[in-house]
Amino acid sequence: MKVIKKAVIPAAGLGVRFLPATKAQPKEMLPIVDKPAIQYIVEEVIESGIEEILIITGRNKQAIEDHFDKSLELEVRLKETGKTPLLELVQSISRLAHVCFVRQKEPLGLGHAVHCARRFVGDEPFAVLLGDDIVVGEKPCLKQLTDMYNEVQSSVIAVMEVPEKDVSKYGILDSVVERPGLYRVRDLVEKPAPEKAPSRLAIMGRYIIEPRIFSILAEAGPGAGGEIQLTDALKVLCAEQPVYGMTFQGKRYDVGDKLGYLQATVEFALARPDLSDGFRSYLKNICKELS
Ligand code: G1P
Repeated sequence: MKVIKKAVIPAAGLGVRFLPATKAQPKEMLPIVDKPAIQYIVEEVIESGIEEILIITGRNKQAIEDHFDKSLELEVRLKETGKTPLLELVQSISRLAHVCFVRQKEPLGLGHAVHCARRFVGDEPFAVLLGDDIVVGEKPCLKQLTDMYNEVQSSVIAVMEVPEKDVSKYGILDSVVERPGLYRVRDLVEKPAPEKAPSRLAIMGRYIIEPRIFSILAEAGPGAGGEIQLTDALKVLCAEQPVYGMTFQGKRYDVGDKLGYLQATVEFALARPDLSDGFRSYLKNICKELS
């Protein structure tokens, strides 16, 4: 039986939706409350039982590597000043997992970024997690996918039904229901116009993919937006071998979008024991002022 041992996190995008904040810092390092968005993703991988992680970076992404590295000066300073809980927090991040990095030299699209992982992955099925999608639930979204992979032994993509007006933001499935919550993919289209979309079932940023994708990506030309699209390669893959879409449990936040980012910030802060009381009463006052 094939099992998933490796995860790839593309983080090479330019972050134009968050300018000017992303002019000199990676969008993946923007904090949700006080934790960089990419750390939530790395933690999801680890909680799903996967220990080998590759982050695909690009220019201006040094801060991501530094974040998962040891921070010697800071650690010495925290030790000297007796700030033990903070010291432990900082040390725990560099101990989280074995994180490797590879640079995508040009931002040619998600498909191209994933192709940069071929040497790391080799000839095994692997996970891909996109940093713009953060999912909160009892069981990590990726774990739900790997459990399904263990059963079907074929590529599995996390999907969610979206309103018709939003289909043009996503990769959209044409599929048949295999059983409740599981769809056999017949075709895929990246960011279709609403009138051309085959359904409202949209790809969320979690995938388990068979390694055959790399040779498909090697041949892929530009698709939607002039970029090499992972969705286009999956479209080729699903004509050759089974590819499934799977709905998942948990709440998904689109932190690549300003409104989604704000929603995540508010809800994550409300869920934090050290902040919830003060923040809740602040929000109540704001709501009174608004009504
Ligand atoms: C990417 C994928 C798209 C997917 C989406 C999920 O698009 O290309 O198929 O539905 O992530 O968030 P992006 O949001 O990077 O434009």
